[in-house]
Parts: sequence; C-alpha cells; structure tokens
Amino acid sequence: MTLTIGIDVGGTKVAGGVVDETGKVLVHARRDTPAEDVAKTRDVITDLVSELAAGRSIEAVGVGAAGWIDASRSTVLFAPNLAWRDEPLRDYVSNKSGLPVIVENDGNVAAWAEFRHGAARHADDSMVMFTIGTGVGGGIVLGGELVRGAHGIAAELGHMLTVPDGHQCGCGRLGCIEQYASGSALVRFARAAARQEPNRAAALLELAGGEAEAITGPMVTAAAKGGDPVSIEVFAQVGRWLGTSLADMAQILDPQVLVVGGGVIEAGDLLMGPTRRSYLESLAQRSRLPVAEIRPAELGNRAGVIGAADLARRM
Ligand code: BGC
Ligand code: NA
Ligand code: ZN
Repeated sequence: MTLTIGIDVGGTKVAGGVVDETGKVLVHARRDTPAEDVAKTRDVITDLVSELAAGRSIEAVGVGAAGWIDASRSTVLFAPNLAWRDEPLRDYVSNKSGLPVIVENDGNVAAWAEFRHGAARHADDSMVMFTIGTGVGGGIVLGGELVRGAHGIAAELGHMLTVPDGHQCGCGRLGCIEQYASGSALVRFARAAARQEPNRAAALLELAGGEAEAITGPMVTAAAKGGDPVSIEVFAQVGRWLGTSLADMAQILDPQVLVVGGGVIEAGDLLMGPTRRSYLESLAQRSRLPVAEIRPAELGNRAGVIGAADLARRM
C-alpha cells in the first residue's frame, strides 16, 4: 500500500492528510491560513508535511492551492484571495521535505477527488465541479482526465462573467461569478439585507449579536434552516446565479454530471433547490434534450486533500 500526502491550501484553512490508494484519509491535520503572509503560509505547509510524513514511508506530496498554477505544476502565478505572486511553491516544499511534489489548483484537486471517489465516481468520462468557498473554484474532467489547459490554468470557473460591470473581483475584473455565488458573496448579500430590513432579518441578526457586520456564512446557514426569510432568500439568490453558470458549462461541455461543493452545500435544498431550478431555466430546449444531473459533493472539506494526494500518486 503506497501512501501520499495531500495538502489543501484555502483562503482560511490549510488542511493536510496521509491518503492511501483507495482515497482513504488515514491521518488528518489542519491549521489556519496566515492569509496576508506568504512566508508564513509556506511554513505552515512544510510543517504540516513534516508532521504527516514523520515515521511513514511517503511516496509524494500534492498541494492544492487557490490560484493560477503554471503548466509545470510548480509555481503559483497569482492567487486572487491570497498574497501569492509567482510563488515557487513546489521547489520550496520539495527542498524542505525531500519528497517529489506537485502543485495543482484547489478546484481541480477537489473535482478530481469527487470524480475518483465522491459524487461523480459513477461517471467514467466527464464531470464539471464548482467549489463554493471564499472564492469560486472549478474543475473539469474530460475523457477521464483532468483538464489543465495549454498553460495549466484552465477551469477557472469562478471568473466567468456573470454581471457586466458588476461587483469588483479579486482578480481585477468586475462582475465575475465569484462575486455572486461564493461564500463571501453570500455573506455580503446577507449583511446588506440585514442592514436594509433589520426587522425581517431579526433571527439572523440575533445570531450575530445584533451586528450586521458580524454575520458569517455558518450563521446564514443556521438561520435559513431555522426558517429566517432573509437567509432563505440569500441562498436562493446565490443558487440562481450558480444555476446559470452550471447551465453554461453543461452547454459548452455536455458532461455526465455536474457537482457543487464547499461549505455552503450544508444548506442542502435551500441552496440546491434554487440552483437546480435556475439551471433548468437556463438550459436551452431542456425538454427536448438530455439534461446532466447536478449533485452535491460528497467528500466535504477532505476533497482537496484526497484529490491532491491522488494526483501526486499519478505524477
Ligand atoms: C481562484 C481559483 C481558486 C478559487 C477557489 C479563485 O478566486 O482564482 O484559482 O480555485 O478561487 O479557491
Ligand atoms: Na480550477
Ligand atoms: Zn474574477
């Protein structure tokens, strides 16, 4: 049984795990992401790797990172929600650990994990995944292979245009889907609604100690599940935007299945219901044509670790 390590560097957490060939995470560890500090983030990653590798025979390390990665899978070219600019992450982690390392986009690794071991494991050919977190990530599998593109930077689904001249995105553009269907967008919508209609949002505001600016994603989920109308509407709004992007991807690629992952799917049908409705409404001629199913991700916050570890095994 060969073991690899998967590391998943997100906007708020760095997760790591030792993973076997079947996708099982044998040991798991997590740290906070020191988001503004590139050197500290590197050190958190290498600390996690050495902690996980200690006393074990590890074949390779895969690192999933939230940004554009170069074609050689070694350098983070740019990360909209982290401080990385031309960061030679592979060599750094490889030199410190003495192990072979690949760096891959976080959306790509999550999609790969769901394709191999999660919500799309029944698919043998193709899938598209959206990951909804601090940002919106994406991953595409076609012909059983991860689509990396000519320059390594394919499947940046979060930066598809949704609203012309819309909200400023961390990538520099205006109106990307990341600004309308991410966890950050959900919180932005909820705070705005609570400021505008404090009475209707009373249940949500109570969770936030009366302060609209203190509202977090998990609070919106809890309030929506408890029947708070404002929180339910906020999920519906995010679902409507997401559904149109899913329909665009279905029309471009015609995948076997579409997967939606990230913390927000804990809202269940409060998100997936409006997402599916908007998806169906956005598909041209849906009553005459085959419609790919949308499934919630199954591997939760371990998808990144599992996918990165599996890709490291295949390098
Ligand atoms: C980045 C992607 C990343 C996604 C999710 C986006 O802003 O451009 O590279 O996959 O966030 O973290
Ligand atoms: Na991606
Ligand atoms: Zn963008």
